[in-house]
Amino acid sequence: MSKLDQERLKRLRQKTRIVHAGRNPEEQFGFVNTPIYRGSTVLSPTAADLRRSDARFTYGTKGTPTTEALENAWTQLAGAAGTVLAPTGLAAITLALMTALDAGDHLLVTDSAYRPTRAFCDGFLRRMNVETTYYDPQAGAGVEALMRPNTKAILVEAPGSQSFEMQDVPAIAQVAHGRGVCVIMDNTWATPIFFPPHERGVDLAVEAGTKYLSGHSDLMLGLVSANDAWFAKLRRTFDLFANCAGPEDCFLALRGLRTMDLRLREAGKQGLAMAEWLETRAEVKQVLNPALPSHPGHDIWKRDFLGASGLFSVVLHPVSEKAVDALLDGLSLFGMGYSWGGFESLVIPFDCARYRTATKWAPGGPALRFQIGFEDIEDLKEDLDRGFAAMKRAG
Ligand SMILES: Cc1ncc(COP(=O)(O)O)c(C=O)c1O
Repeated sequence: MSKLDQERLKRLRQKTRIVHAGRNPEEQFGFVNTPIYRGSTVLSPTAADLRRSDARFTYGTKGTPTTEALENAWTQLAGAAGTVLAPTGLAAITLALMTALDAGDHLLVTDSAYRPTRAFCDGFLRRMNVETTYYDPQAGAGVEALMRPNTKAILVEAPGSQSFEMQDVPAIAQVAHGRGVCVIMDNTWATPIFFPPHERGVDLAVEAGTKYLSGHSDLMLGLVSANDAWFAKLRRTFDLFANCAGPEDCFLALRGLRTMDLRLREAGKQGLAMAEWLETRAEVKQVLNPALPSHPGHDIWKRDFLGASGLFSVVLHPVSEKAVDALLDGLSLFGMGYSWGGFESLVIPFDCARYRTATKWAPGGPALRFQIGFEDIEDLKEDLDRGFAAMKRAG
């Protein structure tokens, strides 16, 4: 950073930081963006240079100007001490867990966590002799009752994957820190733009960059940012695995970052408009979007979050599976597919009942998760009108 050093950048407002963080045109012959650096070997001019451990770049796994640009930009955005990158969001989650845990430790995980996070805890961490206890996402400070002398980390995700329960993250962080427990958050839904994780007490914040940072459904990436207390250990753990993100994905993520604030705010507006409209539909029993006053976690969302993104769920009044399929097959603007955070609208059916263990998922009807993109909202409503008509016909 030549004209704008990291310290000066920290004092600027968020929208400005998103534009300037992680860029140094002077180092790139004046070009605005840091290009894709590909590389394994980094040549040293002298034997003394080769021996230096403080060189900025030493080997491909340790970082390139492209990965460094993205790490620095994300550190600025998240208000963190530092960031490391991973090839996927799930790889970022597992890296955060491996940073905080040793064999024989106990881990608390919200029952509303992203399902592959559970699979990692129940599959791999169990093999490493780490025991996981799932807890009610709405327990707040009540999680303290589940803490044991060997509890070393608690994983929060707000709102919950698919089911959208809100968590009282500051209250959880307070009890966790009182016992030296590391707070890990999957912050993918809000991103640091709508939930500044470290300001709210999170030690290791995970972002699936595959979603809103990408914004275009064309890359896979994960990021873990850490506060002062945890960054050195996070970086050491990253170096042990060298599970690196691809250079092209990092470049595309940097490009996505520059418009992320605008896209996220628009996604939130579109999402809320669709959520409000769906709330008025006779076919819909409940809309699970924390930005709606009807949501049980609305007060926490209003207190702690600075906005809502465009992902939410709905529970339909009871209908047959055939009727739900007719609704989904009757849509032409909503794609059916996993992931979210892109420019296009998506929908998937889901059922958390099959894997929850600490709480019961019994919403009283079939559930759908919507990702609202940037299409005209009236076209999306008309598409859903047609889908609901097909559902009715199917009985
Ligand atoms: C909340 C949440 N966290 C993490 C991930 C994992 O991201 P990735 O698909 O990049 O592994 C996802 C993916 O759907 C997600 O929804």
